[in-house]
Amino acid sequence: MAIEVKTQNPLDVLISKTRELFASEPDLDQRWAKLSPILAEMLADPAVIEASKTWPETHVLAGEGGSRAENLLFYEDPDYGFAINGLKKNPDRSGSTRVHDHAHIYTLYGVLDGRERIERYERLDDRSRVDYAEIRRTRSDVVGPGEIDLVKPYEIHTEVTIGESTVAVIIRSEKSGGFNQGRYNPETFEYFESLGPRQTPVEMFPPNTEAM
Ligand SMILES: [Fe+2]
Repeated sequence: MAIEVKTQNPLDVLISKTRELFASEPDLDQRWAKLSPILAEMLADPAVIEASKTWPETHVLAGEGGSRAENLLFYEDPDYGFAINGLKKNPDRSGSTRVHDHAHIYTLYGVLDGRERIERYERLDDRSRVDYAEIRRTRSDVVGPGEIDLVKPYEIHTEVTIGESTVAVIIRSEKSGGFNQGRYNPETFEYFESLGPRQTPVEMFPPNTEAM
C-alpha cells in the first residue's frame, strides 16, 4: 500500500506567496507588479502544464444580454478575496472574446500554453454618453507561454485567438462574474455593460494526478 505524503503542489505555493505579498504590500500598483514574478514561477513549472490536460475547455455561451465567457475557478481566498482562475480555449469551439474591461479589479493574465494576440485600446471620448465609447487600438502583440499581462482597473483590451489552443492561469483581485464589466465595439463605438465570466469550480490538481 502506498504511503501518502502530503507535499505542497504549485497551487499551494502560489496561494501562500500571494497571501504573503497581500499582507506585506499595501500599495496596489506595487503589489500587482510584484505578483508577476510569482505567477511566472508557476507558469514555468512543467507539472502545471501536465495538470492542465485534465482541465475542461472553457466556452463562450450566448445568452441574455449577449455572450458570456467562462473561467475555471481554482481558488478564492477567504481573507484577501483574490481569485485564481484558468482558461482553456480551443479556437474552433470556444468562441471569440469581445473588447472589454474588468471594471474595478486588477488582473494578472499569464499564458501557460499556446500563443494568442493581446490587444489594448485607449478611450478617446469625454464619457458623456452612457452607450458610447470611442476607442482606438494602441497595442497588438502575440504572446506565448510564460508571458504575463497586467490588466489594471478599467483598462480596455481583448485576447484574440490565432488558430492555436491556449491555456492561461489568471489571478484577479476579486472573483469576477458577480459585477458588470464594460463591453466595447471598436467599429461602432457602442458601449454597454454586462456580467463577467461564469465561474466553474475545478481542481487545478485533481487528486488522481498528484501521485504522478
Ligand atoms: Fe480580459
